[in-house]
Amino acid sequence: MKGIVLAGGLGSRLNPLTKVTNKHLLPVYNEPMIYYPIRILVNAGIDEILIVTGGNNAGEFLRLLENGNDFGLKHINYTYQQGEGGIAAALSLAEFFADRDKIVVVLGDNIIEGNIKPAVEKFRTQKDGARILLKEVADPQRFGVPVFAGEKIIRVEEKPVKPASNYAVIGIYMYDYRVFEFIRSLKPSQRGELEITDVNNFYIKEGKMQWDLLDGWWSDAGTFESLQAAGNMVAKTGANKI
Ligand code: G1P
Repeated sequence: MKGIVLAGGLGSRLNPLTKVTNKHLLPVYNEPMIYYPIRILVNAGIDEILIVTGGNNAGEFLRLLENGNDFGLKHINYTYQQGEGGIAAALSLAEFFADRDKIVVVLGDNIIEGNIKPAVEKFRTQKDGARILLKEVADPQRFGVPVFAGEKIIRVEEKPVKPASNYAVIGIYMYDYRVFEFIRSLKPSQRGELEITDVNNFYIKEGKMQWDLLDGWWSDAGTFESLQAAGNMVAKTGANKI
């Protein structure tokens, strides 16, 4: 299994903090944001990692992370996203790296208290398809929200005005090789992006989507409020506990 951290985008919701630097280089308490998603993968036992970045300061990632020695890695792979296009567009750049292996994708601004290893182990033994992680939240309208029929997810809705549940689909996704085929058939959404939620809905339609609840707190760090909240939680309890 291979790991991919998506760390491109313009980070426009954090302007002017992101005017001269990439969002994922900003501090979350005492470390750069990108450290946390890398540790999510490393703690799950994944040591083949690709960082997809973009923008003007892509070179700073290499300067900061080098070969990943701080994380116990021997090597980190990098690729560059030209322009913008959404999460699924960034992920499409990982096809050569994935090489038909299963992948775990982490959005570069997602920070968790615990460890996803149990879910990753389940995905390892899952024959094919995809697996997502859910967390109960107070503000589901900010996220991808699952619609349930009993225990089964029948659809994910992206940022619904009237959320069908109190759960968010967090930014950690497990996919088999077919993800790249699904991405190729996507059309841009109303916000002009190739949406990861549409990718998840392909798997759901085929009856190939599994899910787990995430233990411990979760935060994205893509808005001023969530960036500060994430920093406060890291300061209080620490993140990426094994
Ligand atoms: C993205 C996804 C959304 C997901 C969220 C998790 O939202 O589109 O489905 O719940 O990440 O962080 P965005 O950050 O693009 O608004």
